[in-house]
Amino acid sequence: MKKIVVWAHRGASGKAPENTLAAFRLAQRFGADGVELDVRLTADGVPVVMHDDTLDRTTDVNGELHTFSLADLQSVDAGSWFAPRYAGEPIPTLDQVLRWAGSYFRLNLEIKEFAAGMAVVGLLERFPGCRALVSSFDYALLEALRRKATWLPVGFLSAQRHWVESIDDAVACGAESFHPRQDLVLPEQVRLCHARGLKVYPWVVDDRQRFKALLDMGVDGLFTNDPGQVCRWRDHS
Ligand code: G3P
Ligand code: CA
Repeated sequence: MKKIVVWAHRGASGKAPENTLAAFRLAQRFGADGVELDVRLTADGVPVVMHDDTLDRTTDVNGELHTFSLADLQSVDAGSWFAPRYAGEPIPTLDQVLRWAGSYFRLNLEIKEFAAGMAVVGLLERFPGCRALVSSFDYALLEALRRKATWLPVGFLSAQRHWVESIDDAVACGAESFHPRQDLVLPEQVRLCHARGLKVYPWVVDDRQRFKALLDMGVDGLFTNDPGQVCRWRDHS
């Protein structure tokens, strides 16, 4: 059986606060090959790591992220909501994550806003050795990114039941990987992706039966909130 890529979804987000360096470090310790993280912009245009467009769910303050400058975010606590021992865990900037990952740990940067995509390209140019790919549900964004940075690996996210059209879109925008919602993956979908030169990375897989089924279909990797568990399954399959 081939060795699949285990991507920790928002880091080891089942065990540590999502999208923080604590969750990323834990994912690495658990044996994940890389982390998936979400990128948005602050009011002053700095790419930071956050899933939601507001701070409400995952920090100790409320408000829309795009109204906070980087300086405003310095005192924000993105860890206490998850568990008291993570109190004071900051919202990371993408620059901090790229420095931490270095040139061997893989990063899947899901771009949540068009403007963030353009800023990310500028930042990635300063990290030529990094192993980052960018992903998005937005075809226009991925196409624009590929035009701006032909060197940039791109992943096409899909939650579409009409997956043949989605695969056409992924190929058309120059993606190297197709990231389908895990419950929509079928053997013929994986075969078509491979025939068209795309790797397949479904999201989000925490269930052992589904993990085995996807492995049998031949996926190339997957996203999980529990990379420790999934790495054990992978290494014993
Ligand atoms: O990258 C796949 C997955 O992260 C997309 O959904 O809502 O978790 O960002 P979401
Ligand atoms: Ca995401």
